[in-house]
Parts: sequence; structure tokens; C-alpha cells
Amino acid sequence: MTVEPDRTGYCATQESSNARIAVIDDEKDICLMLGEFFRRLGYETETFSNAREALDCIRDKPFDVVFTDIYMPAMTGIEILKEIMRLDRNILVILMTGQPTLEDTISAVRLGAYDYLTKPFNLDLLEIMAKRAVEQRRLVMENIAYHNYLEQRVEEQTRELKSFLFHSIESLSYALEARDPYTKGHGARVSQFVLTLADELGLPEENREPLRIAGLLHDVGKIGVPDSILLKPGKLTKEEYEVMKTHAYTGYKILAPIGSLARVATYVHEHHERMDGKGYPQGLVGDEIAFPSRLLIVAEVCDALATERCYKPAWPAHEIVSYFEEMRGTAYDIDVTDALLSLFKRDGDEILSHFREDDRPVLS
Ligand SMILES: [Fe+2]
Repeated sequence: MTVEPDRTGYCATQESSNARIAVIDDEKDICLMLGEFFRRLGYETETFSNAREALDCIRDKPFDVVFTDIYMPAMTGIEILKEIMRLDRNILVILMTGQPTLEDTISAVRLGAYDYLTKPFNLDLLEIMAKRAVEQRRLVMENIAYHNYLEQRVEEQTRELKSFLFHSIESLSYALEARDPYTKGHGARVSQFVLTLADELGLPEENREPLRIAGLLHDVGKIGVPDSILLKPGKLTKEEYEVMKTHAYTGYKILAPIGSLARVATYVHEHHERMDGKGYPQGLVGDEIAFPSRLLIVAEVCDALATERCYKPAWPAHEIVSYFEEMRGTAYDIDVTDALLSLFKRDGDEILSHFREDDRPVLS
């Protein structure tokens, strides 16, 4: 059977006279007779008096319909049926016998035989049965092709949607940096470093993508903070600081409506929480904070310490290590802090150079 694409790209199977039929019978005369009969009807037909040879051939290039005798010395038709069903359940198998029993019939149907034929053959019936089986096989193959086509379309559209979403995220990130140039690159650096922490902790793969995006967008809620506060060079007043703190919840509100970013929204919401409950905006304690959020918290603080800000110089590695050793278990998760400390102890300079590289790509 052949497949041709239609205008939408969908390939439907086409009824074709060259459907492949196999005949398996230890009686060579029957093989010859049936082979000739099916070839005259226009089917591509092969005959086998040896069941093993037939199965080898089916393995190489499946047939559409197999007619097989039940009682043969080397291998019974029921065994052949079982083996064909194991290879490809969509091949239609028609069993043939001169001594039909109810037991064989039930057994064959249970195992997936398409039909049952008794010898001697009525050629009109044989022709009808072959045509019906070939048509059934065509419908089955067409159904499979359509199913595969739909799956492929869904995959393509999912890819397109994902790409659109990623570009929207990139735009959001640029929009934030345009408002607050001082934090240029902060999101991209946090995004990259949080994945380094994730690798160090062996975090499951499924958490990586939401964490990467959360790293990039964790401060997106600052879009809602007035310039007078966001860009203020000096220390914020208590009231101003309260306004600044709203950015965690604002970020959550921006991202939460996007269903596929539900986890990202949670991590963004929690990126200023502390293990001892002294963080904001929810004052979550310990396990109430999602584990990936705890990585984001540490990565974000580490970037803030390792880079120069208008109110402080960049900290050297030993001061960062001392700070995290002191806050381990109070502000920050013990395992996450240990992962960070072991990264610094292994190669602190390498980690710091990572934080001090400018203009890294936002989405790689
Ligand atoms: Fe923040």
C-alpha cells in the first residue's frame, strides 16, 4: 500500500491492487493454487511451505494479509499467528484448515486472528475475504498514518508556541533591563548560576527549564516599582523598601496567568523568602519554600554580593564564603548553601569570573 500527501501534508494510504499477501501451507499444491489465484486478482503474493522462512520474510518486510494453514508439522498456524501478532498486530491473519474445531476457532480469535477459512476453498468466498481483509488493512494503516500526522502537527505547534513564549520572556527581560540598566545582566547571570547549583545538587531535569526562566525573570515585578524608588542611588526609606518588596508578588501576578509558567511564577514569588521565616512577601518557613526556589534565593544573593552595586563594591570570594557559612541553615537552605560552598572551594575565581562577565546572551 502506498501513501501520498494531500494539500495539508497529511498522507492517506491508498487502496492499491499491489497489497502484499502471504500464503503459508505445508502442502505445496495449495501454495501454488492460492498464489496463482491471488496474483490473478492483482495482489503481490508470496507463498511459503516453510513457516520459519515465512516469518523471516515478514520480519524483513511486513505483509498486509497472511493466509496460514493451522496444522503443519514444524509450526502450527496458531504459533505463527502468535509470532505475527508479536511482530505487528496490524497484519491481518486468516487461518485455514480442513478440520475446523470450535476450540481452534476460539483460540485463534482470542489471539487476534482476523478470520477463519475452511478447506476445500470456495473461490468466490476466498476472493471476497481477501478483498475485505485488504480493505480493512488499508483503513487500519490510514488510521495510523492520520494519528501520526496529528501527533506531528501537535509537536510542531507546541514547538512554535514554545518559541513564541521564549521570545516573549526575552522581551520581558529586556523591558526590565531598559527600566533599570544598573541590573543589566543580573537575570541572565542568575539564570545561568542557578543551573550550576542545580547540577551540583543533581536536581531532576524537569526542574531545570522552569528554574532557568525563573532566574531570568525573578525581578520582572520591578516593572511595577516607581522610578523614584527603583533608580534611587542611596538607601531606601522604610516606606520605599516596602514598595520595593512588592516586586516579588507583582512578578508572580505577571507570570501566574501563563499556565505553562506556573512553576516559574512560584519560584519568582518565593525568591526573597528565607528558611527562618524572616523573608518576604509570604514569610514562608523551611519546607514551605519550594526546593528550586531555595536555589534561586542563593543564586540571586550570590550574584548581588559578587557584583558591584551603587551602594557597595563587589565582594571577594572569601567574604562571600564567610557570609554563606554564617547564614547556612538560618537564611539559606543547608544543602543548597553546601553546594555553593563546595563550588567556591573547588574554584572560587572561576565562579566570580562567571558573575563578572557582561553582556551574556539572555536566552541560550
Ligand atoms: Fe528580587
